[in-house]
Amino acid sequence: MRVVILDSTEAVSRFAADQVAGAIDRARETRKPPVLGLATGGTPLGLYNELVQRYRDGILSFADVFSFNLDEYVGLPPEHDQSYHYYMKESLFRHIDIRTENTSVPQTWNCDLPASAKAYETKISHAGGIDLQVLGIGTDGHIGFNEVGSSLASRTRLKTLTRQTRSDNARYFASIDEVPIAAITMGIATILEARSILLLATGANKAKAVAGCVEGAVSSGLPASALQLHPNVTIVVDRPAASLLQHTEYYEDSERVRAKLQSV
Ligand code: PGA
Repeated sequence: MRVVILDSTEAVSRFAADQVAGAIDRARETRKPPVLGLATGGTPLGLYNELVQRYRDGILSFADVFSFNLDEYVGLPPEHDQSYHYYMKESLFRHIDIRTENTSVPQTWNCDLPASAKAYETKISHAGGIDLQVLGIGTDGHIGFNEVGSSLASRTRLKTLTRQTRSDNARYFASIDEVPIAAITMGIATILEARSILLLATGANKAKAVAGCVEGAVSSGLPASALQLHPNVTIVVDRPAASLLQHTEYYEDSERVRAKLQSV
């Protein structure tokens, strides 16, 4: 795993935008439409602002990009202002030149949920798989809505949210009782099939989950630790989120060596 520790949340967002732009360029070099896996939540908002800015500056286009979001709540219509359909439209899609028909968020409203989850997997593989999957991390170590105990072999499916996740997300709702109790989420095996993975974490409340993800044992007890099984993962964090890592010095040495080798 590559672990990049940066001094500010803005630096995390800029670094993440560089990674997304790089993945888009690399896909185009192989004459293949780029496919991004996208996340919601507070953490990637800075990344999306940065991508919008680069689009406005004329240095990044999404005209041929396909996207797949990780998850969607069950029980909220797509036009609900806390649905992830709405979040993606407002935070990114309506500000850039991505084609709406090329964007996918799991369907959870007025549909057969298991069939919808299965169809999502098919749609990802028909698109040729995901080039770069962006992830946040829950304070309980979830990725997507793969909560504690999620099988490391899980595929897109219906998942019950933990009390911790519902309480973390209650800040966006009038009360915790309004936070949905379930979601459709890509599975851990689905996420691990992406060709590269970029996990963003900022703030001291993520420090424990980040330490477990990078340095803990691989375990469904901390689903993000499954990323250790993937050969191309970058974890980008600010200093508070890195504060419980044991091997910070090594990660920083590695970044210096990487920069040196790239400059020769
Ligand atoms: P957050 O959520 O970015 O709002 O902290 C992350 C997550 O739950 O994956």
